[in-house]
Amino acid sequence: MQKNIQSVRGMRDIHSQDAACWMYLEDSLKKLSNRYGYEYIKFPILEKTALFKRSIGDNTDIIEKEMYTFADRNGDSLSMRPEGTAVCVRAGLQQGLLYNQRRKFWYLGSMFRHERPQQGRYRQFEQFGLEVFGISSVDVEVELILFCNRLWRELGIENVLQLNINTIGTIETREEYKRELVSFFRDNIDSLDEDSVRRLETNPLRILDSKNPNLKDIISRAPSILDYLDDGSKEHFIELKKMLENLKITYRVKPTLVRGLDYYNDTVFEWSTDSLGAKSEVCAGGRYDKLVSLLGGHECPGVGFAMGLDRIVSLMQQIDVNYNQKTDLFVISDDILSVRSKAMEIAEGIRSNYPDKSIMIYTGNGNFKKQFKEADKYKAKVAVILGDKEFKNDSISAKILNDDTSQTMYTMQEFDRFLHNNLV
Ligand code: HAM
Repeated sequence: MQKNIQSVRGMRDIHSQDAACWMYLEDSLKKLSNRYGYEYIKFPILEKTALFKRSIGDNTDIIEKEMYTFADRNGDSLSMRPEGTAVCVRAGLQQGLLYNQRRKFWYLGSMFRHERPQQGRYRQFEQFGLEVFGISSVDVEVELILFCNRLWRELGIENVLQLNINTIGTIETREEYKRELVSFFRDNIDSLDEDSVRRLETNPLRILDSKNPNLKDIISRAPSILDYLDDGSKEHFIELKKMLENLKITYRVKPTLVRGLDYYNDTVFEWSTDSLGAKSEVCAGGRYDKLVSLLGGHECPGVGFAMGLDRIVSLMQQIDVNYNQKTDLFVISDDILSVRSKAMEIAEGIRSNYPDKSIMIYTGNGNFKKQFKEADKYKAKVAVILGDKEFKNDSISAKILNDDTSQTMYTMQEFDRFLHNNLV
């Protein structure tokens, strides 16, 4: 026998109870986006490699080693999107959505990074993101943070998440800071690991982000970016903190938070948790006022975040909530063509009158006992039964499941009343 073909490493199937939890989360995000007035945008999975190189930065982990890049049949270099921000900007520019406009977008979809797979880290993972264009004031950052805060609260996971914020200044002041940082780390080069020595040349800010516990001490003694800000960045950060305090949002300033993508300026933030084994980020973002012009557009401020849904689902599964889809009503009928047709017609009628309810019908062969078993399996609240007798009398029977009341036969008119009383 041939061996079964397995999925690609780091890429998963999601099914059964996990899928129900995913659906609940995705539904919540779609509704919440609408409640905050954001518009949906959908963009391709494949993009020209140059888009990511130009925006994310050549010396970042994503560009150096994580992208799924290949030459297509024409020889063009394409990459599977490792994130959504660059693509959203590309789409916004190409479709003329950004020039002189204020736009607020949301998106949801798979991203691809060739990282070492482990719990909470996959090669295909799902992100939900918000991106706001055309507004440079700090209230946008605050709105994004409020959005996340509300989501955590409504999912019941707010107690395991912590908000970290920082500012990384402008691109110019960051250059000056980088020089100071490199000089400090060069003076202490013996305390660095191999990866950080390499980063000294390529992306020194990322040394601050190192997960190596041996570097903790040296990093804590490094110069702080907060001492290198210009007045504009300082003011922006003060305003951010003030607004968060006014709105009673708890945060921590984390001066080593620098983010792994080059396009940010001023505000950066992340929500992290200790509840997924190693400390991990479930949501991250920041301001990127130069990205639109870097990709060929006019000056247009931008700010956004993306959350990793795989990690949020894991947090949701740690609390005791049943996300399984609930079946409200289950239709059981004789396995005779004319009766089954009538039963299907009845089920369609109920779906039209009760569009929010889940109505299932038994399909395939099976006696009533088997069909009732199936209704139990789906934890249906109500069973509706159409046997030969009901069919001939133009009537229908119904029973509340998990209840002592017996099965009752109704005229069609009485049945409407029964549904009204038991399905709302
Ligand atoms: P990022 O920090 O690279 O930012 O990713 C955002 C979130 O995606 C992370 O906090 C994490 O939850 C999730 N994530 C990243 N990599 C993986 C992985 N391999 N497996 C599972 N989850 C993962 C961005 O992508 C920016 N585009 C965020 C942004 C939007 N900034 C402004 N707008």
